[in-house]
Amino acid sequence: MKKTAIVTGANTGLGFAAAKGLVDRDYHVVLACRNREKGRAAQKELGPNALFRKLDITSFSSIEFFLHEIKNNYDGIDLLYNNAGIMYVPYKTTEEGFESTIATNYLGAFYSTLELLELMKYREDSRIVQVSSIAMYLARDVRLEGLHEEKDYNPWTWYNYSNLYRTMFAFELDDKLKNHHTKVVVAHPGITKSRLRKRRKRNLTTMGFDLIATNIKTGVAPVLEASTNLNIKGKEVFGPGVIHQYGKPRIYRGNKIAYDKEERKKLWNYSVDLTGKDYK
Ligand SMILES: NC(=O)c1ccc[n+]([C@@H]2O[C@H](COP(=O)([O-])OP(=O)(O)OC[C@H]3O[C@@H](n4cnc5c(N)ncnc54)[C@H](OP(=O)(O)O)[C@@H]3O)[C@@H](O)[C@H]2O)c1
Repeated sequence: MKKTAIVTGANTGLGFAAAKGLVDRDYHVVLACRNREKGRAAQKELGPNALFRKLDITSFSSIEFFLHEIKNNYDGIDLLYNNAGIMYVPYKTTEEGFESTIATNYLGAFYSTLELLELMKYREDSRIVQVSSIAMYLARDVRLEGLHEEKDYNPWTWYNYSNLYRTMFAFELDDKLKNHHTKVVVAHPGITKSRLRKRRKRNLTTMGFDLIATNIKTGVAPVLEASTNLNIKGKEVFGPGVIHQYGKPRIYRGNKIAYDKEERKKLWNYSVDLTGKDYK
């Protein structure tokens, strides 16, 4: 039977490349994109095994609409790739009042993933692949106070936090699903050429990143490995095999904070408070 995958932010970059890789492996892929035109263009390019559904991951009402569509049209989901994300953006808040990097990269995935579990946890070999970044290793603590206020906002630091939180979420959810089929793993692409990198301000550091950035094929390989390798145990972090940046994928350890159960519990409870969603 054909497997069904959902890829968020699937109209470009790593999300599009992952969707293509999955279509090529005979998955039916739901392209969860915020922009109708871009989503439909991606659907057209990927052919009959891809289907656009509208999702703005920063908006709880958009997530609810998306979930309604998915629950009405699918009996089960085999793979969820939480990919939608932004990087190094000026301070902005979402309609729910959350800082946009944290809302896009982390809170929206927390909300939508928990709601999709009923369609996933009874499916054999089902899995959730959570994108993260080497930026997760730069986060030094779990900061929750004032996270959505402009006062201390720093686009770099907040991007680091969002990627640490993505990884902590994946690890905690994998533990919570231990009596079910679904495994939760993390994939990071290294530093990859995409529109994400073109969008942010240029300075010496970002120009340095641009020099070492690899092509999408290298960046998406860990995502596809995490999505299709049948021998995963859960909580692995897949990344490009040589110094997190080049070559074939391999498994790494995440930021050590992500293995701290107390810190994970703190983040989980905070996220439950903000989203109203929980999974015990
Ligand atoms: N490229 C890298 O070096 C790198 C490194 C580490 C991690 N990552 C992670 O990989 C993911 C993909 O990055 P990329 O490089 O492929 O970036 P990209 O080319 O900019 O693609 C980002 C995708 O996310 C979508 N998106 C953004 N906000 C959204 C929202 N509110 N709702 C739904 N979709 C939304 C974008 O949609 P629109 O087209 O409508 O904007 C786009 O489809 C990101 O989460 C990023 O943090 C990337």
